[in-house]
Amino acid sequence: MTSFQKRVFSGVQPTGTLHLGNYLGAIKNFVELQKEFECIYCVVDQHAITVEQNPKELRSNTLEVLASFIAAGVDYKKQIIFQQSSVAEHSQLAWVFNCVSRIGWLNRMTQFKDKAGKNRENVSVGLMVYPNLMAADILAYLATHVPVGDDQKQHLELSRDIAQKFNNDFKVDFFPLPEPLIYGNATRVMSLRDGTKKMSKSDASELSRILLTDSDDDISSKIRKAKSDSDLIPEDKDQLQNKHECLNLINILSACLDQSIEKTLAGYAGKEYSKLKNDLADTLIQVVGPVRKEIRNLLDNKDELNKILQVGSEKASTIAGPIIKEVYKIVGFR
Ligand code: TYM
Repeated sequence: MTSFQKRVFSGVQPTGTLHLGNYLGAIKNFVELQKEFECIYCVVDQHAITVEQNPKELRSNTLEVLASFIAAGVDYKKQIIFQQSSVAEHSQLAWVFNCVSRIGWLNRMTQFKDKAGKNRENVSVGLMVYPNLMAADILAYLATHVPVGDDQKQHLELSRDIAQKFNNDFKVDFFPLPEPLIYGNATRVMSLRDGTKKMSKSDASELSRILLTDSDDDISSKIRKAKSDSDLIPEDKDQLQNKHECLNLINILSACLDQSIEKTLAGYAGKEYSKLKNDLADTLIQVVGPVRKEIRNLLDNKDELNKILQVGSEKASTIAGPIIKEVYKIVGFR
């Protein structure tokens, strides 16, 4: 059995300003993991075009996601941060994986079903084969650990299936089976307007999400208007099961304070929502405020950001290049 070096890979789509779900579910963990692992973080612009994008906005969103990584604390000097479309190996491996992966597997992807909806015959082929590209992103670096939010779990399982099938088909022990790292108290941050729906960039209501670029006033007002109920806050976690909005607020506060849900809940049991909301707004202002300021500073110097991407892409190619060469030999291209 080949022993694989521990290596972290993850990606974020440049499809709009990042929100609290992206931050607490993924980017906060990116920052922590860099203490222990070699980390590669990618702005996945090729994923973004699986649905229609405005080219000018795509370009500026790419820099904004990069700025958000750095503002949140990713160390671009020690780790690799780069843009997917600059490293051709992702597309090269994705094609090989298009031929390893099965249509039946892709048909089962719930995110594809949700996004395509009734329009299935008319969405891009890219939207369907998206998980194959995601597997290629990870495996072009033989990455072993992948920090993501809960919504990416099924895609990660597919990446493991593809790695396993490639190894079996070609009778090699080449790809590791990448492990999802889904942890913390906010693996699935929910909409502030509907606790049964995921917080998302595409929700029509601005009030449903906190953006990393929101002002302190925006944060306070969105939290004040967050949906809740007329009861007092319950005493224990089990009573939260059907109180989706309350659970979401408690989860977000616990994640921001890095403490257990039980401990957070103990501070509010039997109290009204107003106290929880005031404290949550103050905490979020402390968490998001410095990130917002740093994003603004970084975006003032776009040349510098473009340089960071260029250096990152060169470093990424140095790792992915020899791996894809090996893959090409295994499949018989060379
Ligand atoms: P994307 O761009 O939709 O989201 C980026 C990261 O944020 C997490 N996330 C959330 N976490 C908690 N609560 C939420 N409401 C929430 N919304 C989003 C996502 O789980 C993700 O970790 N397919 C990926 C991007 C990708 C990728 C990869 C990830 C492409 N290639 C390879 C890992 C490895 C996506 O669309 O993430």
